[in-house]
Amino acid sequence: VDRWGSFAKLATTLPDDTLIVLDRRVGRLHPAVGKALRGRRVVTVDAGERAKTMGIVERVMQAAAGLSRSGTLVAVGGGTIGDVATVAAHLIKRGVRLVQVPTTTLAAVDSSLGGKGAVHIRVGGRWLKNAAGVFHYPTETWMCRELWETLSERDLRGGRMEAWKMVACLDAVTWRRWQKRRPALDETIRHGRALKARVCRVDPYESRGLRQVLNFGHTFGHVLESLSGFQLAHGDAVGLGILFALDVGRAVGVTPAAVAEEVEGVLSEHAGAVGRSRMRRPLARASQESVATLLAGDKKSTANGELRMVLLRRIGRAELVPVAPRLWQGLLDPWQTGARP
Ligand SMILES: NC(=O)c1ccc[n+]([C@@H]2O[C@H](COP(=O)([O-])OP(=O)(O)OC[C@H]3O[C@@H](n4cnc5c(N)ncnc54)[C@H](O)[C@@H]3O)[C@@H](O)[C@H]2O)c1
Ligand SMILES: [Zn+2]
Repeated sequence: VDRWGSFAKLATTLPDDTLIVLDRRVGRLHPAVGKALRGRRVVTVDAGERAKTMGIVERVMQAAAGLSRSGTLVAVGGGTIGDVATVAAHLIKRGVRLVQVPTTTLAAVDSSLGGKGAVHIRVGGRWLKNAAGVFHYPTETWMCRELWETLSERDLRGGRMEAWKMVACLDAVTWRRWQKRRPALDETIRHGRALKARVCRVDPYESRGLRQVLNFGHTFGHVLESLSGFQLAHGDAVGLGILFALDVGRAVGVTPAAVAEEVEGVLSEHAGAVGRSRMRRPLARASQESVATLLAGDKKSTANGELRMVLLRRIGRAELVPVAPRLWQGLLDPWQTGARP
């Protein structure tokens, strides 16, 4: 259930048996949040990819020791707080009720919906992105507009990117409409959520091959995030990952050149995507083997190294396509220099 309203008002609806996981930065920037939560149990976490570890899950679970089985866990933060709280909510008393309060637009558009939560696991000296996770659907999500007023341009860009990603894969009509008239933030969020909800309703546990389209741009996006030591923001990495997917799509003959060009142009102009030159740094010192290891760890490849990538057939239609390793390997050189293959 989506609820729109002020945090102070929505907080009055929380039962007593509740633990709140709060992004420390949000608490600092929005004194009204602390005020609304006075007298409640709150565990404060520093957001960012470093929050997505089993160590933080354990901290939340320790704070939740007094919560009953019918208790509620509330995640107040962006995607990283939402993801780690989702894992905790799944484990506390074998699963407690979860309420999401997305404070970034990326979380509002995407991560607070669909029940996925994950943490990173350290393998061979590198953090493997989202290597351990659960499905645990929130019962409610609160959209508190006033919390989004303190977001940086980088954060706003992340939400926009995920919304444009869904539109590119699922909704050609909106793709055209948004180019003619840039959508307001509310519309981006409402529409992105509606598209994702539609997919999740049909394929709630990513078992029917439909939900995977939401991973468009995420195969190489996650590799770039890991290689950059998470210096590259998720939304920016996804924007670059989409370019990778378009290049691969052209190389395997799934994505027509004109479609690839259109998407690259539109994302840069309307979603504020960062340019290809931003691939250079994370990829510069990466060997083919290290890229292959990260891809193998990213749940999207088969045992023989073949990738299952979401590629764009046309605007509004994405498909899961097997991609042989030599295909992306052949594109690594131009990517390393930030060039378009
Ligand atoms: N579970 C899913 O389905 C799903 C989907 C997409 C992305 N994700 C995950 O989401 C994460 C990215 O989410 P994110 O971009 O929200 O990251 P984030 O949680 O790290 O938030 C980004 C930054 O914004 C700050 N912030 C949060 N709310 C703020 C506010 N209102 N005002 C000012 N600053 C604020 C945070 O403290 C942090 O520094 C990634 O780990 C990604 O894997 C998950
Ligand atoms: Zn994403």
